Amino acid sequence: MKTHFIVIGNPIAHSKSPIIHQKFAEQVNLDISYQRQFCPNDKESFQAVVQAFFNGGGVGANVTVPFKQMAYQLCENRLTEQAKLAKSVNTLFLHNGKICGDNTDGNGLVQHLQQLNWHLDGKKVAIIGAGGATRGILLPLLLAGVQSVHIANRTLSNAKILVEDFYKNINLLGYDDFNVAIQNKLTYGSIKDLTGHYDLIINATSIGLSDEKLPLDDKLNCHYAYDMMYGCELKFLQHFIDKGAITSNGFGMLVGQAMLSFQRWTNTHIDINKLDFS
Ligand code: ATR
Repeated sequence: MKTHFIVIGNPIAHSKSPIIHQKFAEQVNLDISYQRQFCPNDKESFQAVVQAFFNGGGVGANVTVPFKQMAYQLCENRLTEQAKLAKSVNTLFLHNGKICGDNTDGNGLVQHLQQLNWHLDGKKVAIIGAGGATRGILLPLLLAGVQSVHIANRTLSNAKILVEDFYKNINLLGYDDFNVAIQNKLTYGSIKDLTGHYDLIINATSIGLSDEKLPLDDKLNCHYAYDMMYGCELKFLQHFIDKGAITSNGFGMLVGQAMLSFQRWTNTHIDINKLDFS
């Protein structure tokens, strides 16, 4: 009997998630159905789609743009720590018959960076952007042992709010010692003031979808540059390729977050190195 999964989004037609999850299922010999589920962009429709899916025997759902915050609200307090800190949910699952939420984006990124052999321990990291994408990757990066994270954003006040909120939430989650440990690790500023050398610079803005270019300083450089976007020409990566950096787009992060969702739903272990998406 097939186990049923969906990914809910708007738009959703181009989602690569069904192909990725089929590869996982083949590796562990599971018979699954993983469908793209379009949903109108309003809370009532989203809740109706989710309820109908789980009432009909569905086992797990991925949630993508623009529903991650709605999914977070739908789960109320039935959230993993990652989802609480990210304030968004990309993975819905059932626990004791109730719909719960996780966010695997941040750990998916770290998993991909490890796969690339981009060591994080002791490294100086800059993240450009201070939206939901940045919120989701902060804790996994800090737990991976980076030396520091500087958040550079177009709107300085949004970076400030994000950092203050992060400290507050990490306290609420009871990471008291950790909070002290990260006091000096997290800084923020505006993009135009971002300069000097970083081991790793991550683009977590939504600029990849537009024609605009980030106002990057000439003296800004890095060993590794990572764009969380994929599937389009990424000016951010080209900028650092021209400066001699090693780069990657975010397709591996997509696979990483999908793998963590799949493993949670199916209680299996995927060997990511044995997968081929070419
Ligand atoms: P998400 O939740 O997907 O991260 P978001 O919350 O809308 O999306 O955040 C988008 C991020 O991209 C923000 O940091 C935004 O900067 P602002 O806080 O100044 O809005 C950043 N961003 C979007 N377009 C940008 C652009 N053209 N140049 C620089 N930063 C941009």
